[in-house]
Amino acid sequence: MDYTERYTAYQEAIESYLDRLFTQDRSYSKLYEAIRYSLLSGGKRIRPVLTLEFARLGGTDWHLALPYACALELVHNYSLIHDDLPCMDNDDLRRGRPTNHKVYGEALAVLAGDALQPEAFRLIAQAPMMTAENKVQAIRVLADACGADGMVAGQVLDTVYDIRDEAGLREVNRLKTGVMIAAAAELGCIAAKMPPTMRMQAVQYAQYLGWGFQLRDDILDVTGDESTFGKPIGSDQASGKVTYVDLKGVEACQKKVENCSVRAKAAVSGWGDHGFLWQLADQMVSRIK
Ligand code: IPE
Ligand code: IPE
Ligand code: MG
Ligand code: MG
Ligand code: MG
Repeated sequence: MDYTERYTAYQEAIESYLDRLFTQDRSYSKLYEAIRYSLLSGGKRIRPVLTLEFARLGGTDWHLALPYACALELVHNYSLIHDDLPCMDNDDLRRGRPTNHKVYGEALAVLAGDALQPEAFRLIAQAPMMTAENKVQAIRVLADACGADGMVAGQVLDTVYDIRDEAGLREVNRLKTGVMIAAAAELGCIAAKMPPTMRMQAVQYAQYLGWGFQLRDDILDVTGDESTFGKPIGSDQASGKVTYVDLKGVEACQKKVENCSVRAKAAVSGWGDHGFLWQLADQMVSRIK
């Protein structure tokens, strides 16, 4: 199976898993509608794809890791809904469509994001075929990644603080994006009960991937094409944000993205079956969406 076929197989499984959520008839149907509007709006699914690939590489049936993969994707989607709010990045476009609060209003957007968080942990708690101990490990990893010392901390630094130095920006990048991407990889390792050394290498791969991924996002915020990127261009500048691109320029920033890709690949170069991970790291360097 080549890279594209495998990515598509993962993506289809993720889409169909997510599509089965929040479908019941409720007197508060607007909530489900708002959640599904964002959840099923065509994200790249890079995080759950990582979970599934690491589960496969760990020697397990990757389908069993779908609840862990999609739990993280639920949290990711909540973070995007809130990230776009007027009090945060104040953006009107996401995945080529009006942002959640533009369609449903701020109150419902906040509440849809709120609901996605516990629902993510429910998916892990209810995962079939996983032991209680395995689920607790997964819950712990996801909580660490999105909690007060994880993604939310990154969003606080990014939104409330005015970070302008290289080390500071690197920390913002790591916390708001890197830890979630690393957790996605780790969840796959947990599902497959991967040995500790491999798990460390998997996390290292994902940390470099995540670092490069956010740098590339910041580049595309300047040089991207809105209709392809699906998000407003110049959003960072409009909200007075200083990014790595401002500090170093587009070219140096792109060099760093390439360097992250090389380092990510090196972390798993000892693995027999690293083809997919390598291609994913290569894709990141030139991604335009
Ligand atoms: C957007 O993440 C937020 C960042 C960390 C840059 P993605 O680029 O993975 O967004 P979707 O899920 O594919 O829309
Ligand atoms: C988003 O960073 C990180 C999280 C949502 C946690 P950005 O604010 O750069 O992401 P986009 O560009 O809006 O997707
Ligand atoms: Mg933001
Ligand atoms: Mg944003
Ligand atoms: Mg951005």
